[in-house]
Amino acid sequence: MAVTINTLREYKEKGEAFSALTSYDATFAQVVSEAGVDVILIGDSLGMVLQGQSSTLPVTMEHMVYHTSCVAQGNKGSLIMADMPFMSYGTIPDALDNAAELMRAGAHMVKLEGTDWMRDTIEALSERGIPVCAHLGLTPQFVNKFGGYKVQGRSEKAAEAMIEHACELEAAGADVILLECVPAPLAARITQAVRAPVIGIGAGCDTDGQVLVVYDMLGLTTGRKPRFVKDFMAESRSIPEAIAAYAKAVKERTFPAEEHTFKA
Ligand code: KIV
Ligand code: NA
Repeated sequence: MAVTINTLREYKEKGEAFSALTSYDATFAQVVSEAGVDVILIGDSLGMVLQGQSSTLPVTMEHMVYHTSCVAQGNKGSLIMADMPFMSYGTIPDALDNAAELMRAGAHMVKLEGTDWMRDTIEALSERGIPVCAHLGLTPQFVNKFGGYKVQGRSEKAAEAMIEHACELEAAGADVILLECVPAPLAARITQAVRAPVIGIGAGCDTDGQVLVVYDMLGLTTGRKPRFVKDFMAESRSIPEAIAAYAKAVKERTFPAEEHTFKA
């Protein structure tokens, strides 16, 4: 049966972890979905891993629509989440038009990076039938404001603000929250504070779901390997086997382990 937003909500209610991976093409989408990974993310990380850019900022709507339609062709029942690229949701009319394009290309949900300023945008999308994932914490489209890729929410003040933003965005209609590079105790607090399923990357083992960039979990990290990445290829004989091992490790909550986690 195809994974829907209701499937993710049921996982959260039952306390069962679920997995997500990025894909950018039909072949990976098919392998990832057949391995039982619940969510496929067409991440704007494609700017880095496919295009060789040094950030996600050069990624355009045209790129995202193309890769979303490729993934949709290969998908066998996972929930397809597509990133809205940099400045494609700067205004509400832009957000509506651009999200609609991603949905027409085959996405089931769109993901936006930001904080409380996205409240009205998320409300407008949600009211018109577009499910939204709100991405908080280390939001790579903000790299120039952050002055680098750094763990977010380390001070109590920043932690409180992130909890508040997650709650506000859920109230505005966000169906899923994604937390990137936040201390595990903060991710656990946010996961408890909202009813929406929470997906983590570098956010410890207490979120409802986990996500990784598929190239990273296959050992294809070209730069410095982030702390939260595990190479599942090291213990597997094939790519489908490595992806299945990742899905199983997430379900069993053996990934992420302490060594992949930011404690504070
Ligand atoms: O673009 C991406 O791949 C992402 C994940 C790392 C969450 O946003
Ligand atoms: Na992204």
